[in-house]
Amino acid sequence: MAYKVPFVNYPEHYRRIWNEVIDAISEALSKGDLILRGQLRQFEKATASFIGVEYAVGLNSGTDAMFLSLKAAGIGPGDEVITVAHTFIATIATIVHCGATPILVDVGEDMNMDVEQLEPKVSPKTKAIIPVYLNGRLCNMEKLMAIADEYDLIVIEDAAQALGASFNGRKAGSFGLTGCFSLYPAKMLGAAGDGGFATTNNEEIGEKIRLLRDHGQQRTTGKILSYGFNSRLDNIQAAILDAKIKYLPKWIERRREIARIYQEGLSDIVGVKLPPPPTTTGPYYDVYQNYVIRVKDRDELVKFLEKKGVETMVSWRIPNHLQPSLNFKHFSLPKTERLSNEVVSLPIYPELTDEQIHYVIDVIRDFFEHQ
Ligand SMILES: Cc1ncc(COP(=O)(O)O)c(C=O)c1O
Repeated sequence: MAYKVPFVNYPEHYRRIWNEVIDAISEALSKGDLILRGQLRQFEKATASFIGVEYAVGLNSGTDAMFLSLKAAGIGPGDEVITVAHTFIATIATIVHCGATPILVDVGEDMNMDVEQLEPKVSPKTKAIIPVYLNGRLCNMEKLMAIADEYDLIVIEDAAQALGASFNGRKAGSFGLTGCFSLYPAKMLGAAGDGGFATTNNEEIGEKIRLLRDHGQQRTTGKILSYGFNSRLDNIQAAILDAKIKYLPKWIERRREIARIYQEGLSDIVGVKLPPPPTTTGPYYDVYQNYVIRVKDRDELVKFLEKKGVETMVSWRIPNHLQPSLNFKHFSLPKTERLSNEVVSLPIYPELTDEQIHYVIDVIRDFFEHQ
């Protein structure tokens, strides 16, 4: 079905930057620059500078950015890592894949880790915290970093959804030992496929992640310094991303503008709970990777929007701690459970037209007026 308002619009995204992207691909192909070449180094430099950190390491995904960060930090069996259940499963899976134990805490009204609930979960086995910056908004990093400092815990930021977001003027990816970003096509900065990167100010950790992404090979000497993985960011993807990154500030501004229009159009509808509006003062600078509203009759609204040609997404219908195959039933997370019944993500991306945004608002208004 062709949606009047699709949830993403990749053809339009690429139509607008077609020549630059094709030029980047052509250059890489004509030079034969396919694996770990100059375009990747250039992209790593550009992202490190954008975020305000010393190092960025291009990787195949946000998932491996977290997995390799945990590995580089020495997290393993017997260790506990605190995170949230209200996240994409990748966050929790990487902890499990390291052999460590995930400890899940509930979220607050901003849908992010309720930092007040963090301290009671710290045990002698706790080694790290993974705050997740859901929908493009950071957690309360002042409190979180204070607790991490007090208990000497490593912080690995799941910033998959928050490239360009900041707290007290500091960007996501510059607080923890590492910041982990996804370059999945629908993300703030999307590859033409999968991709990700990790940021750090710690040279040794940066080097470890570089080694881990390439099977522990020191290519100049032929030495294998450790067992590793194949988690490299493809050079062609890096070339495309490097061509796109200059647009990121403009794309962030457009997302914030769309959030503003949704806020103005929906704020008076009783029955719709909106995310925090975009502000220019205060500690939080949101980038609105997602625009998530909360509605009691969520499934009915989703059906209505679908019928009217508006594609939406629900993240997530089943909370991770209640997924039967994951064995997390011992966690009681009432706010997370409530969210999974109420959340729906509306279309938000730079290519969305004002007309489309107003159409979505009108359909939601229509739903509530005729219920
Ligand atoms: C919060 C969160 N964490 C981790 C990831 C994993 O990133 P990737 O899909 O690039 O592996 C995602 C991606 O959707 C995400 O949204």
